[in-house]
Amino acid sequence: MIAFNHIQRHYQLGRQTVPALADVSGEIEAGEMVALCGPSGSGKSTLLNVLGLLDTQYQGEVLLHGKPLPKRAKPAAQLRRSQLGFIFQRFNLIPVMSALENVAYPLMLNGVSKKEQHLQATQMLRLVGLEDYLEHRPDHLSGGQQQRVAIARALVHKPSLVIADEPTASLDSKTANIVVDIMRRLGHEMNTTFLVATHDPRMASRCDRTIELLDGELNPIQSSEKVISWAS
Ligand SMILES: Nc1ncnc2c1ncn2[C@@H]1O[C@H](COP(=O)(O)OP(=O)(O)OP(=O)(O)O)[C@@H](O)[C@H]1O
Ligand SMILES: [Mg+2]
Repeated sequence: MIAFNHIQRHYQLGRQTVPALADVSGEIEAGEMVALCGPSGSGKSTLLNVLGLLDTQYQGEVLLHGKPLPKRAKPAAQLRRSQLGFIFQRFNLIPVMSALENVAYPLMLNGVSKKEQHLQATQMLRLVGLEDYLEHRPDHLSGGQQQRVAIARALVHKPSLVIADEPTASLDSKTANIVVDIMRRLGHEMNTTFLVATHDPRMASRCDRTIELLDGELNPIQSSEKVISWAS
């Protein structure tokens, strides 16, 4: 589904070069939920930004469904809108919009009619258990509810890949478990691939397998084979 080959990325800070990814390769199958682990500064967010087409200043190649990701801004933005979904630590909902409007937003960007936007966003909010909160603005929702809105927003346009950067880091452990379970269930039902950067061992243990980064390189000892299969 997505393959990344020999990804290298460094940042330039004045005259100093900061290496972030040295030479990282891997592959993720359709419908897999993969945890991206590693200590702070090991390159997790950098890799997510590359695979999520938020950063095109890298060396190496990323293939989505066998086709190289574009590096020019306009085709990259187009592909990002249609094929990718994002979930962030701090939810990143649009504060002046209702839950329904937040979830409909990716559909609007993809040119879906108003009527369909309403229908599909409502359906998605039902799937995350928020059918009674359609008109609530983010500041009138709990952290867990906001993250469920963000999950609905990430999935509403049926992307091939959802990228989540520390999606449970702002949540208490009980709420984090609920959020992970929703991600697992919907990823499975919709055959959507999830790549989830996390410090949370419980989150990682609920994923199908783990990729571990250490100082910008894959740590082959820690990167695991399937831990749990969807059937379990
Ligand atoms: N915009 C930037 N400019 C300069 N250096 C950066 C930038 N972003 C990241 N880095 C550096 O790149 C390296 C990898 O950072 P990255 O944010 O990918 O780590 P991470 O694994 O996501 O860490 P964390 O767990 O703390 O989120 C670090 O050394 C970091 O300081
Ligand atoms: Mg990070």
